[in-house]
Amino acid sequence: MLPSVFVSRIIPDAGLDRVKAACAADIWPDDMPPAYDVLVQRVRGKDGLLCTLNDRIDAALMDAAGGQLKVISQMAVGYDNIDVNAARERGIQIGNTPGVLTDATADLAFALLLAAARRIVEGVEYIKTGQWKTWLPKVLLGGDLSGATLGIVGLGRIGKAVARRASGFDMRILAHSPRCTPEAAAQVNAELTSLERLLHESDYVTLHVPLNVQTRHLINRETLALMKPSAILVNTTRGPVVDQRALYDALRAGVIAGAALDVTDPEPLPADDPILQLPNVIIVPHIGSASQRTRDRMATMAAENLIAGVNGQPLPNPVWT
Ligand code: DGY
Repeated sequence: MLPSVFVSRIIPDAGLDRVKAACAADIWPDDMPPAYDVLVQRVRGKDGLLCTLNDRIDAALMDAAGGQLKVISQMAVGYDNIDVNAARERGIQIGNTPGVLTDATADLAFALLLAAARRIVEGVEYIKTGQWKTWLPKVLLGGDLSGATLGIVGLGRIGKAVARRASGFDMRILAHSPRCTPEAAAQVNAELTSLERLLHESDYVTLHVPLNVQTRHLINRETLALMKPSAILVNTTRGPVVDQRALYDALRAGVIAGAALDVTDPEPLPADDPILQLPNVIIVPHIGSASQRTRDRMATMAAENLIAGVNGQPLPNPVWT
């Protein structure tokens, strides 16, 4: 008998076809994720679960699933939606999809950085609202990247990929990353420093830390106040790393000049959220990994983790080893 699994979203065929071939798969058919109660029901009696960052996977869900649940395979690199300790206590393996989305996410961070620095979205609106009457020497002036200082908070895989891009733009790079060595930072032309100095000296700050108890609201009223009034904040990691109310106030009051966000708190961000009315904010809907190739690779990796897990094998990409 094939192992039974629940797949909480329609993932790209590259992964889904593998899952269907190797498992008896119950696949959630809607774009909207299953409600928590529904997820609990559907996972009951299953050997494996393939989920995404929208699914809350807690101890109660694991208990409801039953003792046969062997693996939780997350189709994302971040897994802050999963109670990792509860899974470990129950002997459930967790897999994620590191590496394959590094470049796509770094590309998006850089796209947001450039768009905010050079006021791309404002420029588009300027044309659409009929304001483009002539070439004006002092209109829509933005900031330069070359010669500017980029502060990278979190110099892991994605932070380093952003640093490599920044080197190509002739930027000075500061990084704050407690677990990184000065040698590893130097390989991507970054100088390690304290968060305070990074915020104080950077023209652009980009966040690449995972969400956990230490990083929740790392960017808050106090840390925003350390940034330059001309600085731009980019966030492509998780919304709650930034205290969004504090960011809104800082953007309105001119404490910093702008922000470009791929992630928000909450997600999805309601269309009437006041932050969307600010002229100095660009927000896109959590599309850091949204390239065809990357999503195919993530789906494949998630499927491989799931299939290994339900068959009692070590996962190719476990969250812990
Ligand atoms: C991740 O993998 O954690 C991203 O946020 C989703 O692309």
